[in-house]
Amino acid sequence: MQTTTAIIFGATGDLAQQKLFPTLFQLIVREEVSERLTLLAIGRRPYSREQFLEMVKENLEKKRVITPEEWEKFQPHVLYYQMDFNQRDSYEPLCKFLVGEEEKRGGCNRLFYLSVPPTSYQTILSHIHASGLHQQAAGRWRRIIVEKPFGTDLTSARELDAHIKALFTEDQIYRIDHYLGKETVQNILAFRFANGIFEPLWNRENVDHIQITVAEEEGIKSRGAYYDQAGAFRDLMQSHILQLLALLTMEKPDDFTFAGLSDQKTAVLEKARFDPEQTVFGQYEGYLEEAKVAEGSQTETYGMTTCYIDDDRWRGVPIYLRTGKGLAKRISEISLQFKKPQQDLFSYTTPRKQANVLTFRIQPDEGIALRLGVKTPRQNMQVEPVQMEFCYSMSFRTELPDAYERLFRDVLMGDQSLCLREDNIEASWKIVDRVLEAKADGSVRRYHIGSWGPAAADQILEREGREWFAHESTVCNGIVLERNSNT
Ligand code: BG6
Repeated sequence: MQTTTAIIFGATGDLAQQKLFPTLFQLIVREEVSERLTLLAIGRRPYSREQFLEMVKENLEKKRVITPEEWEKFQPHVLYYQMDFNQRDSYEPLCKFLVGEEEKRGGCNRLFYLSVPPTSYQTILSHIHASGLHQQAAGRWRRIIVEKPFGTDLTSARELDAHIKALFTEDQIYRIDHYLGKETVQNILAFRFANGIFEPLWNRENVDHIQITVAEEEGIKSRGAYYDQAGAFRDLMQSHILQLLALLTMEKPDDFTFAGLSDQKTAVLEKARFDPEQTVFGQYEGYLEEAKVAEGSQTETYGMTTCYIDDDRWRGVPIYLRTGKGLAKRISEISLQFKKPQQDLFSYTTPRKQANVLTFRIQPDEGIALRLGVKTPRQNMQVEPVQMEFCYSMSFRTELPDAYERLFRDVLMGDQSLCLREDNIEASWKIVDRVLEAKADGSVRRYHIGSWGPAAADQILEREGREWFAHESTVCNGIVLERNSNT
């Protein structure tokens, strides 16, 4: 059996506690990894191993019931090490500690996970390198997971990339965007290319427009220091939304490898242009107090823009993208509205719902729905909109794995296919940099918490006789999987 140490920098932070440890807990207790994993949690807080475990357990129990057997199975895998990871001289003692632990297990692979503020990436990577922690040992690999955001604009992304590449080889670097680990996101490609019937319609002859919404109900909570420097476009549009856009609009890849997928994603992102006239920035009321930032912050907590892809497949098809915090509901959804039929033989009960709409619900109530027009019983050729649905919870009767489970397993297996390549990241920054250049003083509009963001964004669609689908979408609504308390 392979033995691996996952060295998690920033182990007491929000991401590690809310996402990574719950994921690692599942993988270990369900024996879903073929390796013997040791989790070396690194944090600045002066915790004992027991105090750290207490924190992990408390956070896990907020998500589900933990049985004593599960806990007994999990806790021996965890070690805690306190250090200031920005200090160069902390790394020799870490190295000594790590080697001592690994010798007990007969040597280990090493996986470094940077769950820290992006401003610390370069420092930590330099220190890992300078202290020799990354050096290969016979038959043992060293891999690094770096999570989005990669830089804050094109220039800083290139700088970070050059820094990483000067220290590590490409096969050691795993740049992840957790959206790509979501089942529903991976299913976009399966849906497009495993079903012969939709791909012939996937073009400007047949598609009227596309919408991508990633809406969140919550505000920025305690992440003010990071978020105020980022804003919606850098935090979420540059990464998750543009990845969704790429998967939805790219050409068929030669295969589903890292190279095959990256080539096509970059090719389509390079052709995406946005319209500054159809772009909206918003900030929810109360943001300044919540984020604890200075009066006058122009950080957008809401961003909407309209993209066009300059190629034969998509030329002229508007793609409306939006994301925001403090909105009416948590929903991530992609919809394609098809063109209406030419003839007008029918009367419609709801004329504004005449067109076919295909919706991918990324979360929650995961599924895919197609809006069709069908004849109303007894009426003369009156057509009514209905939904044809695939719901994960009905078809598979199992809870979907967390995105991090898939990504973590891939890294252990050395599979980079769901990772990002640098040209992909750069193509996305080119788009977002241009959008942000269009942000002038006074262009950030206020909106109420619990609304759908600034009305200006709705008006952009309304002017074209369109509307946002997510506002009243009912995809797989109310179809709830009977959960086993231990899943
Ligand atoms: C992160 C963003 O990448 O994704 C957060 O930094 C956002 O601001 C989160 O809340 C959303 O992820 P999910 O999986 O909860 O939709």
